[in-house]
Amino acid sequence: MTLNILGTGAIGSAIAAGAAKHNIPYRVFSRSPAAAVTVIDQQDQQIMLNTPLSQPVKLDSSDVLIVPLKAHQIASALQQWQPFVCVHTPVVLMHNGMGGAETARHTLPDNPVFLATTRMGALKHSENHVRITGRGTTDIGSISPDIGPLTAIQEQVLSSLRHCLQDVVWHADIYPSLWHKLSINAVINPLTALNDIPNGTLLNGRFDSQIDEICHETAAVMRASGIPADAKALVSRVRDVAAATAANYSSMHQDVVHHRQTEIDAINGYIVLQAKKKGIAVPHNALLVEQVTSLTQR
Ligand code: PAF
Repeated sequence: MTLNILGTGAIGSAIAAGAAKHNIPYRVFSRSPAAAVTVIDQQDQQIMLNTPLSQPVKLDSSDVLIVPLKAHQIASALQQWQPFVCVHTPVVLMHNGMGGAETARHTLPDNPVFLATTRMGALKHSENHVRITGRGTTDIGSISPDIGPLTAIQEQVLSSLRHCLQDVVWHADIYPSLWHKLSINAVINPLTALNDIPNGTLLNGRFDSQIDEICHETAAVMRASGIPADAKALVSRVRDVAAATAANYSSMHQDVVHHRQTEIDAINGYIVLQAKKKGIAVPHNALLVEQVTSLTQR
């Protein structure tokens, strides 16, 4: 199976490096002309990736399209690729927040689509340098929860990703994992961006009541969406991730610093949208959407 990886971001480059190390065929695509990325792995080994291609190529069922882009980039990427994939080409979406599944259902209604979330650490230091900073589990599952044994295509996608990312877990229903990642991003990302702080500073006591309130709202929306959730357990996971990544600046913090569009609509915005559908009040999440949006419009 040939991996076709969109973009030259940290996670996509880490996947490509795994493919290069294990002699799995892969291509990297970048919309604008880009130099080959060098990935430094945890053993300090340098892996020079293939030079990105700037135009899509025709894909068939022996290809997989991997889309580790930001949520707001997915619609235009899938539209660009739609004429180039066949209905059997599997597509893997990997992004913070939610909304990619709906976009894929609309643009590629007949393709096998997978949703994944990873706890692997990878940082882009410069335009063409990525460092893998930590191992972490990648969770993956089909866009519609499965019953029964894995299909041949699911086995192939899982096995290709396992070669590249090692610790990959298949879920018959991926949505609880996606919601749990969302609940962590819904706290760490906006609070670090708004307060211009690294993740660990969230643990200094000043943010405790805000963290509690955001988690209470998110847990209520999760439960109403059929995902078992307990606010106290969410708070404790947020605190664990903030402690484990204490020195890091979140992706939303970095987006704000570099004047890039943030993922606020796919994270807290998604919670607000689902809350509205279920008739649940989520004033803290709504305020975060407003504040981050106005921060980036300045
Ligand atoms: O988006 C991020 O930065 C990361 O998902 C996380 C977990 C918040 C750690 O920084």
